[in-house]
Amino acid sequence: MTSTESTIHTENKTSSAESPVIPAHLKRLVLTGFMGAGKSTIGRLLADRLNWNFLDLDAHLEARTGATIPQLFAEQGEARFRRLESTALASALGLSNTVLALGGGTPEDLTNRLLLEQTPGTFTIFLDAPFPTLFDRCMLQNIARPVLEDPAAAQLRFERRHPLYRRLANLTVATSNQTPGQTVDTLLTNAFRSQ
Ligand code: S3P
Repeated sequence: MTSTESTIHTENKTSSAESPVIPAHLKRLVLTGFMGAGKSTIGRLLADRLNWNFLDLDAHLEARTGATIPQLFAEQGEARFRRLESTALASALGLSNTVLALGGGTPEDLTNRLLLEQTPGTFTIFLDAPFPTLFDRCMLQNIARPVLEDPAAAQLRFERRHPLYRRLANLTVATSNQTPGQTVDTLLTNAFRSQ
């Protein structure tokens, strides 16, 4: 094990069910989208179905820094959080057979988008939904998200990010009318046919 790998805390799935086939050249699936898109929920289900590992970038960053996301925002500011997020992403992209859930703001940074686009074997999926749906979902979750404190500013972030999510993704999936399980089924049935 390399020193980088030793710091990474993936959730290792050991499902014995037959795994769906993913093209051999794909080493990691990356889920992107705004807060509330279902990146972590769908990511865990997808990893389970593939018998791959799951890594949540926020959790990876928290494990690397020993601080929670709200602590990092409050004590070091958003700019420092974003730099830490970039280094956590670079480290996570070294993993294979992994479903990686990004933070909602990860694709805003050009370096992060280049890393995602240029790391071989990386397939990025945008989980799309309208802002009101996402905001309502977030309000029902017990997750501390500093960037949601001001709803109007959060909507502006959504509008700024939406075209970036779309452009970055190899595939966009509309999630509003689907359960997480249905989204995973849709992905596994359609996503990799042309790969
Ligand atoms: C953020 C989203 C969060 C987390 C941080 C900032 C954002 O991740 O990275 O609170 O700027 O959209 P989730 O999308 O997993 O909630």
